[in-house]
Amino acid sequence: MSIIDELAKLGKMSDKHIKKYLLMNTSKEFEEVILYQINTGGKRIRPALTLASCLACEGDINEAFPAAASVEIAHNYSLILDDIIDHSELRRGKPTVWKKYGISTAILVAVHYRESATEALNDTYSPREFNKMFARTLKLLTDGERLDILFEQSGREDEPYVVHNRYSSIEFENYLEMIYKKTGALIETSCIFGGLSARADKKMLDALSSYGKMLGYAFQIGDDIIDLFGETEKTGKKVGGDIIEHKFGNAVIALALQELEEEKREKLLHILRKDKVLDNDIKEAIKIIEKYSNARQKAETLRQKYSQMAIESLSAIPNNKGKEYLIELANFISLRRY
Ligand code: IPE
Ligand code: IPE
Ligand code: MG
Ligand code: MG
Ligand code: MG
Repeated sequence: MSIIDELAKLGKMSDKHIKKYLLMNTSKEFEEVILYQINTGGKRIRPALTLASCLACEGDINEAFPAAASVEIAHNYSLILDDIIDHSELRRGKPTVWKKYGISTAILVAVHYRESATEALNDTYSPREFNKMFARTLKLLTDGERLDILFEQSGREDEPYVVHNRYSSIEFENYLEMIYKKTGALIETSCIFGGLSARADKKMLDALSSYGKMLGYAFQIGDDIIDLFGETEKTGKKVGGDIIEHKFGNAVIALALQELEEEKREKLLHILRKDKVLDNDIKEAIKIIEKYSNARQKAETLRQKYSQMAIESLSAIPNNKGKEYLIELANFISLRRY
């Protein structure tokens, strides 16, 4: 078995724990709806990170399953809400929860997931410590989603907070803050939870924190590249979704806007600010970015740089199977197309 297959298997080992918590205190008649999101698939990268981090700190992975379940449940909670926020109809090649069941039901399912994560953390050896870090992480995620929508250039005309607080331009620093919050914080916590489950010392926890932070940047930059240049058959998501949603908060778009000469930049801005972005607009925006800027290559270079920095953060951790998994995960994230 290749190490990537081993990693996928590691992530999937958390599935039965995830389902146990999702079905705790759940109406029989709602079970099918609750399980829909988790059963649509997913790479299970976050629980794999928790379990690999626990192994890297020479802990017993059986101790890490509740925490591993909690981070994947939190991730799916964020996806259910993110798909409502981003008006996305397709995820993992299937209808999103709101598209399949309606918005009210999707919101209820999301709340249910959030509470299931707490139920999972109650089974760790220190619920208070885990829950405290978890709440902080999800507040960061929420703030990252808030910034992401404030960086949009049109839409949400019926949303007063967004209309009054939108950014008309952003620096790359703003982008990095936004992605650390919306994506990096949960990835970092997934790693720290593995270390905590292994009762690791501060030096190891710091190494995992830095690894997770760097990996988070690489992960979201990769997601942004895939949004524009991926294939729906592989990603299970619509190509150009970030253009449809008028987003500045996509690494490739942010870098292209810095680099394009005036006329092309105006053209791209015009598309991003259109009320309704059509399929032809997406094609044209992608063409401008590819033909007149190096933004795609720059984003690829950045994601590799952050993956490399993640690997370098692991120097305090002894060589063992868990560390090997973490290195391989970073290599996967530096190149992934799905
Ligand atoms: C997608 O995450 C959302 C982001 C944070 C970029 P994943 O790419 O890990 O989604 P699944 O779980 O594998 O579908
Ligand atoms: C996802 O950002 C971050 C979350 C907190 C879910 P995106 O909006 O880019 O994720 P996808 O592309 O829909 O998976
Ligand atoms: Mg989205
Ligand atoms: Mg989003
Ligand atoms: Mg995306």
